[in-house]
Amino acid sequence: MTSAHLTFDQTGEKIAERVVKMRSSAVRDLFAAASRPDVISLSGGMPDVSLLPQSAIKKAVRAVCEDERAVALQYGSTDGRVQTKQVFCDLMRDIGVRTKPENVLITSGAQEALDLLSKAFINPGDIILAEGPTYLGALQAFSAYEPDIHCIPFDDEGMRMDLLEEELARIGKGNPRLKFLYTIPNFQNPGGVTMSSARRKRLLELAAEYDFMVLEDDPYGRLRYDGGHMVPLKALSDDVIYLGTISKVFAPGLRTGWIVAPKHVLSKVNLVKQGTDLCGSSFDQVVVEHYFTDTPWQKTLQKFVSTYHERRDAMLAALDEYFPAEASWTRPDGGFFVWVTLPEYFDTASMLSEALEAGVTYVPGDSFFPDGKTGKNSMRINFSFAPPEKLNEAIKRLAKVINERLELYRVFLDAGAIKVD
Ligand SMILES: Cc1ncc(COP(=O)(O)O)c(C=O)c1O
Repeated sequence: MTSAHLTFDQTGEKIAERVVKMRSSAVRDLFAAASRPDVISLSGGMPDVSLLPQSAIKKAVRAVCEDERAVALQYGSTDGRVQTKQVFCDLMRDIGVRTKPENVLITSGAQEALDLLSKAFINPGDIILAEGPTYLGALQAFSAYEPDIHCIPFDDEGMRMDLLEEELARIGKGNPRLKFLYTIPNFQNPGGVTMSSARRKRLLELAAEYDFMVLEDDPYGRLRYDGGHMVPLKALSDDVIYLGTISKVFAPGLRTGWIVAPKHVLSKVNLVKQGTDLCGSSFDQVVVEHYFTDTPWQKTLQKFVSTYHERRDAMLAALDEYFPAEASWTRPDGGFFVWVTLPEYFDTASMLSEALEAGVTYVPGDSFFPDGKTGKNSMRINFSFAPPEKLNEAIKRLAKVINERLELYRVFLDAGAIKVD
């Protein structure tokens, strides 16, 4: 006999309070819509992995399958393979940071590092400082542990140190709730801005004075299109916790990142990682080792840089050509993103359906603030994935949507129905 079944959400009452408070990532939610063939997506943050030479991938994976199956298919140690750590020490040396494998811990991407560090250090109600807007995956990782996240605005030279100082004065010296400051100093996500050398130094002085840890998240540092290399915070202070990843210089599908930190920090991270996944993927780590030792990866990196450089230029040129005078945007020297600010009365979240209709997506600005309210009149747009002609078309479509809204707002403004300060 068959019977009709109704299913109810029986987990509703049992769900943890911290999960009820969590917000889904707008980028993840947009994934399906952004994959429609008629839509040009400016919402993701994906590297163009089609630029990776097949021969290099085959070489790295074949070496693993033929010679290192036994280790690659086995559990590994929680902190990761020493050979992989050595590869990352070599990558760190290139950017001016001298470190040893014992100060490195391998993670499943920088995202896992953010979660593990939060798990190890944040109690509910603790204070975390970050740029505002900031990487929404970091906000998701932090918020699971229920901190108060205080956002510090940035300008063209990165996080505003004067505003950070004011915030620190409010928090007070020796406040045990103040745990760490999270920053993306190079080509910030979503802002595209880079922290100046002077501000890097000042930040470290303030960290010593007010006793907080500094988390330096650096996925885009090697993707520079203009200007010279900036010294990482980690090179200026041993105490900094540096997060690296192969996602933007090789492939995010191999979930591999790393933390460089003092041993007393890594031992806590190791402890919490055991409960998360025992260890990262041995297979991915061995592939990464082969890629960075046996293939011309620097040449491939150059290809990434020159391609994204061209795309960045195409996006900025299209913005100059099509966007209205009322809009302003950042001009990144590297990375993947441009941050656009529209007049205050705009709501980019509600405009998204019109943009989708017009065949373009972006990420509304409020996704990058912990309160989900600030930044409503802004948006993040990505230039790393689509070729120049598509970027030009996408910006043209987006400009049309914005201009139509502007016309509507002007009618309301003229009628006095909207007030601007
Ligand atoms: C600033 C920032 N941190 C961390 C991550 C996560 O990177 P991964 O793929 O290494 O987990 C991203 C991904 O876009 C990012 O932009």
